Amino acid sequence: MIELQNVTKKFGTHTAIQNVSLTVHKGEIHGLIGASGAGKSTMLRVMNLLEIPDSGSIYVGDRELTTRSKRELREARKRIGMIFQHFNLVLNKTVEQNVAVSLQLAQVPKHQQIDRVRECLRFVGLEDQMDKYPAQLSGGQKQRVAIARALANEPEVLLCDEPTSSLDPHTTSEILTVIRDIHERLGVTVIIVSHEMNVIKSICQRVTVMDQGTIYETVPIESSGIPKSDRSPERFIKELKNDA
Ligand SMILES: Nc1ncnc2c1ncn2[C@@H]1O[C@H](COP(=O)(O)OP(=O)(O)OP(=O)(O)O)[C@@H](O)[C@H]1O
Ligand SMILES: [Mg+2]
Repeated sequence: MIELQNVTKKFGTHTAIQNVSLTVHKGEIHGLIGASGAGKSTMLRVMNLLEIPDSGSIYVGDRELTTRSKRELREARKRIGMIFQHFNLVLNKTVEQNVAVSLQLAQVPKHQQIDRVRECLRFVGLEDQMDKYPAQLSGGQKQRVAIARALANEPEVLLCDEPTSSLDPHTTSEILTVIRDIHERLGVTVIIVSHEMNVIKSICQRVTVMDQGTIYETVPIESSGIPKSDRSPERFIKELKNDA
């Protein structure tokens, strides 16, 4: 579904990811974990070419993204939704208008926008909050709006960068339930970056551990465990294999 082949991304002299290759299967929930600065967000952002890699190829479905024209890339990006730790909502737009933004960018006819916005807000359980502004919502509700906005163009892939890091444990599990629903009911492939081992272990089928811009290992998730303060890749692997 998503394939990175020998991808390198540098920021000035600093190499954020170095010759990374990764395959995420269609219909998978795939985790990315690792210490701060390991390159997790950069990995996610090259997957929809928000960051243009210096070298390597990126396939989403059977489409190679790096060789596409601007117009083709815009089309391909419609199939890739993204959500963030800090929600990134437009503060002076209502819930309804925030979700409609992605449909406007995709030039969906106005009369179709309203139905689609409602449908997405119903999916995340916010149909009755359409006229509110972000400041009037809780963190969990804001993230639901962001999820509805990401779903508006019927993506095949949802990229999640620390989607629960600003939320309390109860709200975290609510948002994880929404993400699981998107995966199960809509068949969307999900890639989720998180520092929180409990998040990764509760939702992912496989997880890739990043270390200093490279992939340390990709492992299947088998059982549950507790977060630890040690952020070394060896520790992540141990804990994922549950022999910590
Ligand atoms: N736009 C940028 N300009 C310069 N350097 C950057 C930029 N984005 C990332 N970097 C650097 O690239 C490296 C990897 O960053 P990245 O954001 O991918 O890490 P991360 O694993 O997501 O970290 P965190 O867990 O703190 O979010 C870091 O050293 C970071 O400082
Ligand atoms: Mg990050």
